[in-house]
Amino acid sequence: MYTVCSIIAYKGYRDAAPLIVKALSRMEYRGYDSVGIATAHNNSTIMVKKGVGNVGYVNSRLNLDRMHGRVGIGHTRWATHGVVSDINAHPHVSCDGRIAVVHNGIVENYAALKYALASEGHVFRSDTDSEVIAHLLEDAFTEPQSDEEEMLGKLVNVLNLLNGSYSFVALVSNGMLVGARYHEPLIIGLTNPSKDDGDDGGDDSILYADECFIASDVLAFIEYTDKAVFLADGEAFLVRYADASKQRVMVKIFDRNGNVTNKEITQIAWEFADVDKGRFAHYTLKEIHEQRYTIGKAFNASDDRLRELINVLINADRIIVTGSGSSYHAALIAKHLFSKLCMLACDAIVASEFIYSIDTYANNAGKPLLIAISQSGETADVLNAVRIARGKNFRIASIVNAPLSTLARESDIYLSINAGPEIGVAATKSFTAQMALLYRMSIEASRSNGMNPLTLDIGSSNIYVDKILGMEAYISDLAESIKNVNSIYIIAKGIHHVIALEGALKLKELAYVHAEGIHAGELKHGPLALIDGKSIVIALNPMDDTYSDVLASIHEAKARGACIIGVSDSRCNMYDFTLEIPRVDRLLYPLYEVIPLQLLAYHMALKRDCNPDYPRNIAKSVTVK
Ligand code: AGP
Ligand code: GLU
Repeated sequence: MYTVCSIIAYKGYRDAAPLIVKALSRMEYRGYDSVGIATAHNNSTIMVKKGVGNVGYVNSRLNLDRMHGRVGIGHTRWATHGVVSDINAHPHVSCDGRIAVVHNGIVENYAALKYALASEGHVFRSDTDSEVIAHLLEDAFTEPQSDEEEMLGKLVNVLNLLNGSYSFVALVSNGMLVGARYHEPLIIGLTNPSKDDGDDGGDDSILYADECFIASDVLAFIEYTDKAVFLADGEAFLVRYADASKQRVMVKIFDRNGNVTNKEITQIAWEFADVDKGRFAHYTLKEIHEQRYTIGKAFNASDDRLRELINVLINADRIIVTGSGSSYHAALIAKHLFSKLCMLACDAIVASEFIYSIDTYANNAGKPLLIAISQSGETADVLNAVRIARGKNFRIASIVNAPLSTLARESDIYLSINAGPEIGVAATKSFTAQMALLYRMSIEASRSNGMNPLTLDIGSSNIYVDKILGMEAYISDLAESIKNVNSIYIIAKGIHHVIALEGALKLKELAYVHAEGIHAGELKHGPLALIDGKSIVIALNPMDDTYSDVLASIHEAKARGACIIGVSDSRCNMYDFTLEIPRVDRLLYPLYEVIPLQLLAYHMALKRDCNPDYPRNIAKSVTVK
């Protein structure tokens, strides 16, 4: 699995470097291994500082924030090509030092490009794929460019040479910023923007502003402006000062053919700025606690889009739900709920596996529906599935937490879970909010399908979540007593098995403990061979139609000496530890059942000295296939 990180660029009237360092810190949650900045001072020389480590560490070592210049680019890298090293950190600079580039994504044909450039005499300093972009731009922008049209044309020629996915920003030593995006996010933030420079006869397609930010995430610049322009795939841009006074900047955006495009300026919700940890030690813990109200908020989504989606849902000839990681688990929940509560047959497919089974579904006549679930709305595997489905005549609906995301934009219809920014790499509140929205959809669909209307009372969700959060001290002690375990098995049946999978994923990514979600009935078909006196078995054992079967599996595990942690709404003397779920609506029970598992994974992480907000090797937005 590949992961990619953050870009921020700035041009305006302030010193760029301190602002870039701050923006990189704001995007730290995305995960990365090295950091770098380039600035241009007095429109002449480019300075670059970069190194391995986190933003705070590299800044304290290299004083990144003291670099001079009112234009600059910054990057946090997640290595895909070339080891993690100071040299491979971005920015990468052309041979003549006139161009510095930061890049997210993968240039798939970099080897051929590198070979050709090296044979022309270009000297490569890093092992990254990204460095080819700096050398290609060096060849394209020969000598100081005065003619902008010519520059645009040359940039387009370079873009046409690149295969793969990219968002990049290049700093040119004359103080200009140029760049483009393709299958990687890039957003332009503008302070005090306008569409003309005050002169008569201004060109509507050129944007003017006091300052320009270019970033892979709105969090990078939201504290300065809520006005943004979203680049579409394949679009490129050029930023320079509007005139010699250097008080305003000018931004030109153009398409793959070099035609300048007229872009809308979008207003971003200020709630994106609410990204403090508050009184909590970690974002992950804060977000687990936020479920007190995020569940209800997602459930109560009420707008025309919900009605429209229900209409599409109940009339679809085929329903497929897709997602990755936790969002795939939400897709599995959808499969259970849609079939059980509203008699709608549907399949859940892991987004990265979509391509292998799609033909079976696409060959059926009629209008199939794909529901893509993604917190970020930027997950490459999900976007890929959506694009394949689009080509096969599917209608596309999505469930996202980021309404401005690529997924939302590429869908025929999207619903937002309204959970607010989720910074912790592990999905917590977004997962339960996705579930809550799926419950709501099931209720509405059953109603529209002429079935007996379901009534699910989510009104007290805050009380139930509070009760579960009240077990935190107990869960922390439990985590202490099992912290040295090597493997945890979570057994469950029916819809609870999905929660077992989700709980196991949390334990893996937060606490680095091997954990598996197992169908309780499958224990005796193999996994039981692993169970002995050192094993920990978590049994999801609600007092419902799965109870007696799960109890039988508990007996099997207990007989082999396993320590049993029961997650249940009823006590049982088979459990060595009990995580008690309040008596809630039977159908809604899984929504609450996952929360003690999130807390256990969080506290196991602390006991095992893992940073729960930034698990190793994974990132929040996985925007590369
Ligand atoms: C969940 O804890 C993970 N970090 C991960 O599996 C995540 O759910 C997955 O990468 C999908 O992300 P998305 O919801 O933003 O598409
Ligand atoms: N492929 C590039 C590298 O390995 C960029 C990775 C990233 O997106 O951070 O340097």
